[in-house]
Amino acid sequence: MNIVHLSAECYPVAKVGGLADVVGALPKYQNGLGHEACVIMPFYDLSFTQKNKFKCTYKGSLKLGSSSYRYSVMEPVDLNLGFQLYLIKIPDLLFTNYVYSDDDAKRFLAFQIACLNWLASKEQLPDVIHCHDHHTGLIPFMAQYCHEYEVFEKTPSILSIHNAQYQGWFSHKLIDLIPQFDRKHTGLLDWDGSINPLGCAIKCAWRVNTVSPSYMEELKQEANGLEILLTHEAAKCVGILNGIDTTVWDTNTDSFLKKNYSKSSVLSGKKANKKWLCTTYNLDVKKPLFAFIGRLVYEKGSDLFPEAFEQILQDQEVSILLLGSGDKNTQQRLVELKKKYEGSYNLYVGYDEALSHVIYAGADFLLMPSRVEPCGLNQMYSLRYGTIPIVRGTGGLKDTIVDIENDGFGFIHLEATAAHIFSTVKRAVTLYKDQKRFKKIRKQIMNIDHSWDKSASTYIQLYKSLTNRS
Ligand code: ADP
Ligand code: GLC
Repeated sequence: MNIVHLSAECYPVAKVGGLADVVGALPKYQNGLGHEACVIMPFYDLSFTQKNKFKCTYKGSLKLGSSSYRYSVMEPVDLNLGFQLYLIKIPDLLFTNYVYSDDDAKRFLAFQIACLNWLASKEQLPDVIHCHDHHTGLIPFMAQYCHEYEVFEKTPSILSIHNAQYQGWFSHKLIDLIPQFDRKHTGLLDWDGSINPLGCAIKCAWRVNTVSPSYMEELKQEANGLEILLTHEAAKCVGILNGIDTTVWDTNTDSFLKKNYSKSSVLSGKKANKKWLCTTYNLDVKKPLFAFIGRLVYEKGSDLFPEAFEQILQDQEVSILLLGSGDKNTQQRLVELKKKYEGSYNLYVGYDEALSHVIYAGADFLLMPSRVEPCGLNQMYSLRYGTIPIVRGTGGLKDTIVDIENDGFGFIHLEATAAHIFSTVKRAVTLYKDQKRFKKIRKQIMNIDHSWDKSASTYIQLYKSLTNRS
């Protein structure tokens, strides 16, 4: 099958979070199954595009209301990502040194128009168009209803919802920016008085999936206003658990690690990475190391950390290391805590891919007290690297972690509160003291298979059920 993935992010080109990891891995695994999957994404002015060479495959122009923009489709030269990558370069609009900002509505609309323009010009149409999140959410509508894109009428479109909190809302005043369509279809664009690209995609895509089964169910109760819509469209919705790219996330070969290790050398391997972390961040290597990696936002429960860390550090002999940035208030409180708990707590404010890998390898436990977690990849990386996850039981975390009290291999707390984080950390410290059991679980989790193999073929089956129909 000829599959086109459309996304705002893709690892290693541009990454803000897990969306990039998924789009950088799923097509690779689909190609491994004998299909032809490619990724189309914006050409940003970021380090990947600055460092690599590209050639132009196509030049075109698009209309956004009364303005015209030139665009080119660029392909990397001498680079094997495991899938064909196409970058849409719109010099006056999309070629920015950021992925997301306040001007997203226009930028991503132009991106989507350019994608359909270019795809329509090709001799062979894709068998399926797979859209990821709201940034590509107007594609299913445009492909069905915009006169220029009639050619896609029979091409199935899929929407993957990675995060329903963000919907890409914009005002009806901008409706003329969308290529011509019969205005009787305007209602499909609308949800609650705005143009809502995510809502529109839920209505217009042939099938919709969330990135874990539990998240699909949770969205029917809480979806930032889209609950009724998702309940109404339930028949075409399904939850498919994300996988991880086990070629990128491999302790044997990961070039970011201070020392590589296998299942049999996990003890010395993790010890070396932990030692590097503790030396670099002034922490005590003898104490269990608890870590967090992620965006400091409400959904991730990171605002609970200042209070939870105070409780933990006053009561328990542990080290804590945090990597992330986000909400200014939380960030500032977490930075301030450093002075008070020097030697036991530290953080790196910012984004650092290399450091994240060393933390997955060197930490003993990974904290994920998320309020909302559509899937979560961190817990799967952490399992593979032999680091025991401590998660709140929600979304994909609920679908991937089993508590040790239920014969499992991780820790689950039911509520996103400082008190629940504290009591669960205490349970983890008890496990750490029982080194025999701790090491056994560590080996056990490294054997859990979360690679994309299974879910990549689930997506293929989903596409096939649609292409047969069309
Ligand atoms: P989300 O996409 O909601 O942020 P996921 O768990 O799906 O959450 O994926 C997060 C991805 O981003 C993981 O690959 C994680 O390692 C990475 N990540 C998050 N924050 C940082 C950071 N500050 N530095 C490096 N990597 C990070
Ligand atoms: C989103 C979600 C996260 C998920 C990722 C990849 O960013 O917040 O839970 O793992 O997408 O699907």
